[in-house]
Amino acid sequence: MTQNVKATLSFSDGRPAVEMPLLKGQIGPDVMDIRPVTNAGIFTYDPGFLATASTKSAITYIDGDEGLLYYRGYPIEQLAERCSFLETCYLLWYGELPDKERLEAYETRIRKHTMVHDQMSRFFQGFRRDAHPMAVMCGTIGALSAFYHDHLDVNLPEDRELSMFRLVSKVPTIAAMSYKYNQGLPFMYPNNQLSYVANFLHMMFATPCEPYFANPIAVRALERIMILHADHEQNASTSTVRLAGSTGANPFACIAAGVAALWGPAHGGANEEVLKMLDEIGEVKNIDKFIARAKDKNDSFRLMGFGHRVYKNRDPRAGVMRQTCHEVLGEMGITTEQLEIAMRLEEIALKDDYFIERKLYPNVDFYSGIVLKALGIPVKMFTAIFAMSRTIGWISQWNEFMSDPERKIGRPRQLYVGAARRDLNR
Ligand code: CMC
Repeated sequence: MTQNVKATLSFSDGRPAVEMPLLKGQIGPDVMDIRPVTNAGIFTYDPGFLATASTKSAITYIDGDEGLLYYRGYPIEQLAERCSFLETCYLLWYGELPDKERLEAYETRIRKHTMVHDQMSRFFQGFRRDAHPMAVMCGTIGALSAFYHDHLDVNLPEDRELSMFRLVSKVPTIAAMSYKYNQGLPFMYPNNQLSYVANFLHMMFATPCEPYFANPIAVRALERIMILHADHEQNASTSTVRLAGSTGANPFACIAAGVAALWGPAHGGANEEVLKMLDEIGEVKNIDKFIARAKDKNDSFRLMGFGHRVYKNRDPRAGVMRQTCHEVLGEMGITTEQLEIAMRLEEIALKDDYFIERKLYPNVDFYSGIVLKALGIPVKMFTAIFAMSRTIGWISQWNEFMSDPERKIGRPRQLYVGAARRDLNR
């Protein structure tokens, strides 16, 4: 929404000033519309997009100073406590929570698409058994466009909707297949009588030889983890999905691009790195050494699971995750050295000036790995589970973007610092 207030950009060299409207969102800070500067023949420079809103969105709101996260206006804590993952998916996708009838219809349609084309199983054979599940996910999700190329007109809402159902339904199947392939175990077909989350655990842990019943504590905990990871505004992977989508690329290719961006340790790969770090620390007595390393500018080591580009007070997801961690370990009667190290690490870091001055707090991934491990999920699958949870956020953001009449191809400019024109001397 445009306000009457304008910002003026003036130049000391006598060039005409540029007026820029201030835009007001529903909540949150004012946003300066810098589009008029293009007429003045200049660009803006903002590495890492610290001050740049790349899009309008009505899906997720974050207030990093207050530590708030809302999906479609609902606080994340309430959704994690009172909703199922598929209700949250419906909310992110359509903008409202479903009533009973709508939810049932939605769940039925999701179930209809859980299997993947049978030939996909042969596609998996091309990977090495020891490939990282995220490497396999990048390839196989991208390959969905080779298997489901009917109804792929990204300008048609009904085609987009079909692809969205296919993605949300099939990504858990692909994630579980990546694991089974890695283990040399037979793929398990989805069991559509189970809930979305229980079905994923079934595809991960069941074998054709004996029945498998998912522990309800595990189902609820994973459901909560998935809700917490479902969307997060214009983060690196979501922005990647939007950028890929801006070219008119098909949704399977866009989500594969999102998976690739998520994999990095500064983003979704952090949950795996936290566990590796806790293992490396090994004992509470070693914590001080690692804190010192994290503070040392000559050491590239960072405290994984700490810090966030947007949250400078607290990550609201981390609070829910911490509580879930204690509940799950308590209910399952598990005591781990890792939890003890994590709690001590958090306590020390929160009192340390280095972390206080830089506003570095535990993020969602600090505790999620401990919970996933307690549920029997192998560490290599942590980021794949993040990708599976985030698929709904990516695809809802993609759909919103594709319906935006102001949509343009994403094409950033640059500050060129290379050689000036020179001629070949031969
Ligand atoms: N350990 C030690 N120092 C840190 C850390 C950390 N985890 N994070 C930031 N810093 C320092 C950094 O060295 C810098 O110090 P100085 O000002 O002296 O140069 C300062 O804090 C600011 O860091 P930055 O890299 O400029 O901050 P950023 O906003 O660009 O990066 C971040 C955010 C999440 C990439 C970073 O905090 C980080 O690498 N954290 C560890 C990885 C992690 O846990 N990532 C998961 C994020 S939550 C899940 C998700 O949404 O993807």
